[in-house]
Amino acid sequence: MYFKLNIQSAKDEIKFDKDSGLVKFFVDSNNLEKHFNNFYESLNKNINPLQKKNFLDKKGDALNYYSEYGEPSNIYIKKVKIDDDFTIDFFRNYFAGLISDIRKIKINSIHVVVPSFNKFKKHFGDEVYFLQTMVEGFGLGNYSFDKYKSSKDKTESLNVIFHYTNQNALKKSIQNALNIIDSVYFTRDLVNEPAITLTPIELGRRTKKKLSKFGIKTTILDKRQLIKRKMNAILSVGGASENQPCMIVMSYKPKIKPRKKIALVGKGVTYDSGGLSIKPTSGMLKMKADMAGGAVVIGTLMAAAKLKLPIQIIGIVPAAENMIGGKSYKPGDIIRAYSGKSIEVKDTDAEGRIILADALHYASQQKPDEIIDFATLTGACAVALGLIAAGLFTKNDQLSNKLINSGQRTFERVWRLPFWNDYNSQIKSEIADVSNLGPRWGGAITAGKFLEHFVDKKIPWAHLDIAGPAIKHELTNYTKEFDTGFGVRLMVDYLSTS
Ligand code: BES
Ligand code: ZN
Ligand code: ZN
Repeated sequence: MYFKLNIQSAKDEIKFDKDSGLVKFFVDSNNLEKHFNNFYESLNKNINPLQKKNFLDKKGDALNYYSEYGEPSNIYIKKVKIDDDFTIDFFRNYFAGLISDIRKIKINSIHVVVPSFNKFKKHFGDEVYFLQTMVEGFGLGNYSFDKYKSSKDKTESLNVIFHYTNQNALKKSIQNALNIIDSVYFTRDLVNEPAITLTPIELGRRTKKKLSKFGIKTTILDKRQLIKRKMNAILSVGGASENQPCMIVMSYKPKIKPRKKIALVGKGVTYDSGGLSIKPTSGMLKMKADMAGGAVVIGTLMAAAKLKLPIQIIGIVPAAENMIGGKSYKPGDIIRAYSGKSIEVKDTDAEGRIILADALHYASQQKPDEIIDFATLTGACAVALGLIAAGLFTKNDQLSNKLINSGQRTFERVWRLPFWNDYNSQIKSEIADVSNLGPRWGGAITAGKFLEHFVDKKIPWAHLDIAGPAIKHELTNYTKEFDTGFGVRLMVDYLSTS
């Protein structure tokens, strides 16, 4: 964490303390100059005429101002245009950017004058969520992973005071956001942790330790138990590593009668070297994050418990290290998976789908109302959609529509790709029930079709390929520095509306 954030709610009147900042939005102002002048007069400051002209000019959209005399010392003014380019992510992204900008300056508090909800109703739907996106922005932008740095990032405290008339909505939004941010932080901590430390068993241990605080039961099926259950797919992928594979199973039960029972499954490859079908170094660099799907499942259970969501959730994370050694699984091998189906291994780098085969069959055995899985499964999906959206694969329109809606609301967007049975012919094997490799074309889809073989057809199921958005990218202010935790906010919204 860069700052120790202390987020507060307040009514309209602002009392500035020393080294304080003020954030003010001008929303679709017809008479911008007049409103701007009134605002400045009320602060009793002198502003550089050129800065003022630039801001009032059509092109300028922000004015950041520092004043030595009197408080507030730092003033951040931002125009908001509610046009085609305006998105529900506007405030989240703005505040995430603001909090990283102010790391270098001396500041104790930031006062935010929240604009009126009226003009934003169309985009946000409800007032609590409108406010929540702002708090989330501060939280998500304030994350840092500095445990291995000798000189730690700054951790001074910062008061963030939101000024808004509807105190109830504001308080609720702060509470929601803090619970969600906490869970996203835990997910990010797991994804950013290097594989030298975060082995499969260590992933299980950290999960168990953290989730037990929230009443979630975690069971770790270790190698012995995997052998006993004939979970040969996980065992094969994890065979070469000194660090034994395992399957982490979590259970969250709400206090009241649950509306639904959902199984969440997440790929937990703690390191993907490619195995004997070895990756080049450049490809390996990011592969400590190949357990991001698993981390999303873990973070989602944590958030569900913290928010007391009325859904029963089973979390299933098959965890393995895809390495090279005398016990490596090999191209040409045939594996008898937990479900009894046989898999021909054509490429050991397509390992995610193999471990998920056992996990999805286990999930199906629990007879949930639906199954959703998360996996950094294919580079092909990131090639197709870029880094801001996850690929969505399902035959169930209702599940699809709900996930797409939650994606639009949280801005953790998902995009549905074709899932026709025609693709099945591409992963046919001559000597086994299914091959783990299709041709280059449609690689994200054939990976999904492979998974489909291991899911009970009667259970609604969706697969989300998060290879693009799970890993840090420059496209938003809260995903630039560290692997992102993409999917937790999406799932919280999905579960809250299920
Ligand atoms: N973990 C990778 C996919 C990946 C790539 C995730 C880049 C995040 C960023 C996966 O196990 C993999 O190696 N997939 C192969 C599949 C291929 C061998 C069919 C790929 O995408 O190249
Ligand atoms: Zn791989
Ligand atoms: Zn992988």
